[in-house]
Parts: sequence; C-alpha cells; structure tokens
Amino acid sequence: MCGIITIDGPSASGKTSVAQRVARRLGIPYISSGLLYRAIALACLRENLPPEAIEERLPHYRLELYPTQGENRVYLNGEEVSSALHSLEVDRWVSAVARHPGVRAFVNQVLRQIPPPFVVDGRDMGRAVFPEACHKFYLTASPEVRARRRMPERGAAFETVLAEINRRDEADRQQSAPAPDAIVLDTSALELEEVVEAVLQSLAASK
Ligand code: C5P
Repeated sequence: MCGIITIDGPSASGKTSVAQRVARRLGIPYISSGLLYRAIALACLRENLPPEAIEERLPHYRLELYPTQGENRVYLNGEEVSSALHSLEVDRWVSAVARHPGVRAFVNQVLRQIPPPFVVDGRDMGRAVFPEACHKFYLTASPEVRARRRMPERGAAFETVLAEINRRDEADRQQSAPAPDAIVLDTSALELEEVVEAVLQSLAASK
C-alpha cells in the first residue's frame, strides 16, 4: 500500500473524524496536523505573546506528536497538552499563529519526521507538505452544516460556532486550497460513515 494519504479541508469539515476512521480501517496511524498549530497557539496564549512575536520564540519550543490509530498525543516541552487544544480560545488564536511562515516550517518539520504509513489531515497536507502522497482528498461542507457538527464539541450556541467557523474560513483561506490532484468530496448531505466509505472505495479503486 502507498504510504501517505492526505485529507484536507476547512474547519469542522469532518476531516479528523474521517482520517481517524479511515486509518483504523486500514490498520495504520492517523495524524491531525492542526494539533501542532493548536499547541503553538496554546503556548502563545499561556505566555501572553502576540502572534507577531511567535516566530522568535520557536527555538524555545519542543513539539512532539505521537500518532496512533485512535488518537494523537501532543507534547509541548515535555508536557502533554492534548486535552487543552480544542478550546474556543485556541480556536480564536490559532489562525493568526498559523499564518507565519516560520511557524509553518516548524510544524512541517515535525510532520515530515513521522515515518509512513499514515493518514494525515490538515489544510495543506496534499498541496504543500506531502505533495508526493499518492492519495489526496479534500472535504468540504457548508458553514451551517459544519457549525451544527461542531456545536456539541464546543458546548456553544449555533450562532457563536457559525461565526467562529466563518471567521476561521476567511483567516485560513490562504493555506487552505486543495491540491490540484485531490479528490474533492462535498460532505454536506453525507453521514460520517458514508464519507469514510467513499474514501475507502476511492482508495480501493485506485489500487
Ligand atoms: O484542523 P484544525 O481545525 O484543528 O486546525 C486548527 C488551525 O490550524 C486551522 O484553523 C488553521 O489555522 C491551522 N492549520 C493550518 N494548516 C494545517 C492544519 C491546521 O494552517 N495543515
């Protein structure tokens, strides 16, 4: 089997849930690249740093990601921070941090050290980080559908989550274009398991 499968898409498009399930079905690990950006955003928040100051702080950070089929564990300077990465506060901060080229290079270096095979999800995995991947997917869904899916995770009102998704779509636009050779799947009308099946069928068909 080919070693790297990329699943990109905007926030709350379901890419992490799909990547997890596809990886489990294939018996290989999955990696959620957004967690690394989130860990840097968390460091920024904890240190009260403006995002513009983040690049010069990077040499002080050691970031590790341990992938498994079921979950990713992320360590920042030796401390496990996995459970602190999905707050609305980190959501609000992360795009401004991820925009800096030095931050992107730092995260990409951590990702490229992970030995394949794996399924990786993010914004630019197929286009920029793993252009050599042999299977690339890009998931989309309307902002309203994505907000409904994300509400239970955030424990916030629909309007709050929708506004955050629209804001992040705009902020992430530059780093979010699909790879030219990605298969684009609109998941608005699909259940999670249907998306997983569509990805697995496409993988089987291209063997
Ligand atoms: O995928 P997730 O929503 O966890 O990503 C969090 C944030 O990290 C995104 O909103 C985006 O700003 C950034 N990100 C990125 N490139 C990636 C993955 C995530 O810029 N490959």
